[in-house]
Amino acid sequence: MGDRELSVGRVAERCGVKVSTLHFYEQKGLIKSLRNQGNQRRYKPDVLRRVSIIKAAQKMGITLDEIKEALSALPNNRTPNKNDWERMAMSWQAALTLRIDKLTRLKDSMTGCIGCGCLSMDVCPIYNPGDRVGQQHTGPVFLDNSGE
Ligand code: FES
Repeated sequence: MGDRELSVGRVAERCGVKVSTLHFYEQKGLIKSLRNQGNQRRYKPDVLRRVSIIKAAQKMGITLDEIKEALSALPNNRTPNKNDWERMAMSWQAALTLRIDKLTRLKDSMTGCIGCGCLSMDVCPIYNPGDRVGQQHTGPVFLDNSGE
Protein backbone atom coordinates (compact mmCIF):
# COMPACT_ATOMS: atom_id res chain seq x y z
CA MET A 1 0.00 0.00 0.00
CA GLY A 2 1.27 3.45 -0.82
CA ASP A 3 1.59 6.27 1.68
CA ARG A 4 -0.80 8.42 -0.32
CA GLU A 5 -3.66 5.94 -0.21
CA LEU A 6 -6.62 7.09 1.83
CA SER A 7 -8.83 5.37 4.36
CA VAL A 8 -12.58 5.39 3.84
CA GLY A 9 -12.94 7.78 6.80
CA ARG A 10 -10.44 10.20 5.30
CA VAL A 11 -12.17 10.16 1.91
CA ALA A 12 -15.54 10.71 3.59
CA GLU A 13 -14.13 13.64 5.55
CA ARG A 14 -12.43 15.23 2.53
CA CYS A 15 -15.49 14.83 0.30
CA GLY A 16 -18.11 15.73 2.88
CA VAL A 17 -20.02 12.47 2.49
CA LYS A 18 -20.87 9.65 4.86
CA VAL A 19 -18.79 6.47 4.92
CA SER A 20 -21.96 4.59 4.02
CA THR A 21 -22.25 6.74 0.88
CA LEU A 22 -18.79 5.64 -0.22
CA HIS A 23 -19.70 2.01 0.43
CA PHE A 24 -22.83 2.52 -1.66
CA TYR A 25 -20.89 4.13 -4.52
CA GLU A 26 -18.48 1.23 -4.41
CA GLN A 27 -21.30 -1.29 -4.42
CA LYS A 28 -22.73 0.50 -7.48
CA GLY A 29 -19.36 0.32 -9.24
CA LEU A 30 -18.79 4.09 -9.24
CA ILE A 31 -15.57 3.97 -7.21
CA LYS A 32 -13.05 1.26 -6.43
CA SER A 33 -10.99 0.52 -3.37
CA LEU A 34 -8.05 -1.66 -2.61
CA ARG A 35 -7.65 -3.68 0.55
CA ASN A 36 -4.71 -3.40 2.91
CA GLN A 37 -3.27 -6.32 4.85
CA GLY A 38 -5.89 -5.80 7.56
CA ASN A 39 -8.61 -6.03 4.87
CA GLN A 40 -9.48 -2.35 5.30
CA ARG A 41 -10.52 -0.26 2.32
CA ARG A 42 -7.91 2.05 0.86
CA TYR A 43 -8.47 4.52 -1.96
CA LYS A 44 -6.13 6.13 -4.43
CA PRO A 45 -6.10 9.94 -4.19
CA ASP A 46 -7.99 10.34 -7.49
CA VAL A 47 -11.10 9.00 -5.74
CA LEU A 48 -11.53 12.51 -4.30
CA ARG A 49 -12.08 13.94 -7.76
CA ARG A 50 -14.29 11.02 -8.73
CA VAL A 51 -16.54 11.46 -5.69
CA SER A 52 -16.66 15.23 -6.30
CA ILE A 53 -17.85 14.60 -9.85
CA ILE A 54 -20.44 12.10 -8.67
CA LYS A 55 -21.78 14.58 -6.10
CA ALA A 56 -21.82 17.46 -8.60
CA ALA A 57 -23.66 15.34 -11.16
CA GLN A 58 -26.18 14.21 -8.53
CA LYS A 59 -26.84 17.86 -7.67
CA MET A 60 -27.67 18.37 -11.36
CA GLY A 61 -30.27 15.61 -11.08
CA ILE A 62 -28.24 13.01 -12.96
CA THR A 63 -28.96 9.48 -11.79
CA LEU A 64 -26.25 7.19 -10.49
CA ASP A 65 -26.83 4.88 -13.45
CA GLU A 66 -26.23 7.77 -15.85
CA ILE A 67 -23.12 8.80 -13.94
CA LYS A 68 -21.82 5.25 -13.98
CA GLU A 69 -22.42 5.01 -17.73
CA ALA A 70 -20.48 8.24 -18.33
CA LEU A 71 -17.60 7.18 -16.08
CA SER A 72 -17.45 3.72 -17.65
CA ALA A 73 -17.11 5.26 -21.10
CA LEU A 74 -13.72 6.74 -20.22
CA PRO A 75 -10.65 4.78 -21.36
CA ASN A 76 -9.49 2.29 -18.73
CA ASN A 77 -12.26 3.59 -16.46
CA ARG A 78 -9.99 6.51 -15.62
CA THR A 79 -11.01 9.36 -13.37
CA PRO A 80 -12.40 12.21 -15.47
CA ASN A 81 -10.03 15.05 -16.23
CA LYS A 82 -11.10 18.66 -16.89
CA ASN A 83 -12.01 17.97 -20.54
CA ASP A 84 -13.92 14.80 -19.63
CA TRP A 85 -15.91 16.70 -17.03
CA GLU A 86 -16.70 19.44 -19.55
CA ARG A 87 -18.01 16.87 -22.05
CA MET A 88 -20.07 15.11 -19.38
CA ALA A 89 -21.53 18.38 -18.11
CA MET A 90 -22.49 19.47 -21.64
CA SER A 91 -24.17 16.15 -22.36
CA TRP A 92 -26.03 16.18 -19.05
CA GLN A 93 -27.03 19.81 -19.59
CA ALA A 94 -28.72 18.83 -22.85
CA ALA A 95 -30.49 15.91 -21.16
CA LEU A 96 -31.64 18.20 -18.33
CA THR A 97 -33.02 20.72 -20.81
CA LEU A 98 -35.14 17.96 -22.36
CA ARG A 99 -36.37 16.89 -18.92
CA ILE A 100 -37.19 20.47 -17.93
CA ASP A 101 -39.11 20.99 -21.20
CA LYS A 102 -41.06 17.79 -20.59
CA LEU A 103 -41.85 18.76 -17.00
CA THR A 104 -42.87 22.25 -18.09
CA ARG A 105 -45.31 20.79 -20.63
CA LEU A 106 -46.64 18.42 -17.98
CA LYS A 107 -47.01 21.28 -15.47
CA ASP A 108 -48.82 23.43 -18.05
CA SER A 109 -51.21 20.61 -18.95
CA MET A 110 -52.12 20.11 -15.28
CA THR A 111 -54.06 23.38 -15.14
CA GLY A 112 -57.30 21.64 -16.16
CA CYS A 113 -56.73 18.86 -13.63
CA ILE A 114 -56.54 21.12 -10.60
CA GLY A 115 -59.75 20.60 -8.66
CA CYS A 116 -60.96 18.01 -11.20
CA GLY A 117 -59.72 14.57 -10.22
CA CYS A 118 -61.53 12.71 -13.02
CA LEU A 119 -58.42 11.04 -14.55
CA SER A 120 -60.61 10.51 -17.57
CA MET A 121 -59.17 8.38 -20.36
CA ASP A 122 -60.94 10.71 -22.80
CA VAL A 123 -60.09 14.19 -21.60
CA CYS A 124 -57.37 14.17 -18.95
CA PRO A 125 -54.10 15.46 -20.47
CA ILE A 126 -52.08 13.97 -17.62
CA TYR A 127 -53.56 10.51 -17.66
CA ASN A 128 -53.81 10.17 -21.42
CA PRO A 129 -52.12 13.04 -23.24
CA GLY A 130 -53.37 13.39 -26.81
CA ASP A 131 -55.26 10.11 -26.36
CA ARG A 132 -52.07 8.28 -27.37
CA VAL A 133 -53.15 5.30 -25.32
CA GLY A 134 -56.36 4.95 -27.29
CA GLN A 135 -54.37 4.99 -30.53
CA GLN A 136 -52.02 2.24 -29.41
CA HIS A 137 -53.95 -0.06 -27.08
CA THR A 138 -57.29 -1.34 -26.06
CA GLY A 139 -58.21 -2.25 -22.50
CA PRO A 140 -56.46 -1.23 -19.29
CA VAL A 141 -53.09 0.49 -19.51
CA PHE A 142 -50.68 2.02 -17.04
CA LEU A 143 -49.29 5.54 -16.80
CA ASP A 144 -45.75 4.17 -16.79
CA ASN A 145 -46.29 2.69 -20.24
CA SER A 146 -47.51 5.92 -21.82
CA GLY A 147 -44.19 6.40 -23.63
CA GLU A 148 -43.32 9.74 -21.99
S1 FES B 1 -58.00 15.01 -13.68
FE1 FES B 1 -59.70 15.67 -14.85
S2 FES B 1 -58.78 16.48 -16.64
FE2 FES B 1 -57.14 15.65 -15.52
